[in-house]
Amino acid sequence: MFLAADYPDLMVGLGQPDDAAVWRVDDERALVVTTDFFTPVVDDPFTYGAIAAANSLSDIYAMGAAPFLALNIAAFPPQLPTNICSQILQGGAEKAREAGVVIVGGHTIQDKEPKYGLVALGFAHPQNMLTKGGLQPDDRLYLSKPIGTGVIATAIKAGTEQPQEAREAIEWMLRLNKGAAELALSCGAVAATDITGFSLLGHAWEMAAASGTGMRIDFEKVPLMTGARRLAGQWVFPGGAFDNAEFFKPHVQFHAEISQELQLLLFDPQTSGGLLFAVPPGNENVMLKKAEEIQQPVWKIGVATDSGRIEVL
Ligand code: CO
Ligand code: CO
Repeated sequence: MFLAADYPDLMVGLGQPDDAAVWRVDDERALVVTTDFFTPVVDDPFTYGAIAAANSLSDIYAMGAAPFLALNIAAFPPQLPTNICSQILQGGAEKAREAGVVIVGGHTIQDKEPKYGLVALGFAHPQNMLTKGGLQPDDRLYLSKPIGTGVIATAIKAGTEQPQEAREAIEWMLRLNKGAAELALSCGAVAATDITGFSLLGHAWEMAAASGTGMRIDFEKVPLMTGARRLAGQWVFPGGAFDNAEFFKPHVQFHAEISQELQLLLFDPQTSGGLLFAVPPGNENVMLKKAEEIQQPVWKIGVATDSGRIEVL
């Protein structure tokens, strides 16, 4: 049987599920380990590989760690041309290099549908890292990428996307969360997570639940990708949005004026989404100055409360 007490150096494990596991190496270093992989979200193999790598590294950044080493995990159909496979792996390798990460190996199996991602390792400082817990009422909530990759990827799959909107979404998915993590650490944030499959509200609830707090989110302040609102109006949602809504709705209270489709947009599963991090009141100016310095976009979307639920106004 697994007992946390048997592993005193395990700082974050299954006992308090987070974006990655954390193992204390010594007083200065904690090893952060995670893995993630998924099926193609775009048609271009190189771009798919790069997005999958950025997404895998995101969980390392969400812990306030710097990634340095990774392994490929891939599944390719036997009939897939080898140059397509190598383009996927090359997209991953170049994105990893941009992050200062070297891919040193991996494993590939055969499967009907392609799958790709990384096992990623990073180092954090044991006294200065980010977890889902630790949110305090009155902390300001900042998000580093707009919402909408789920509805836009669904339009891409159906072949009904608007090219400019798809390009914009792809640029966001390709973007590393390195700068966002730097910002969070620079302002004394302790609570953070990355926004992925469970949607903005699902991951927000994970943070609130892990911290024993609530949140108030101002719908009008939530950044949306171009086209997201229109696609929501046409009910172009991936199945995961409905699953997220059903699962997390008991913890969310919407203002009566927010329409059903805009509510569902906040449950839209994201691929390689931004970081949601909590800035202690009083440290906002330091963070915003740094954001400008490193040209990292951030949006203030709300505040932590003691309500024990997510209110969307
Ligand atoms: Co995560
Ligand atoms: Co993950």
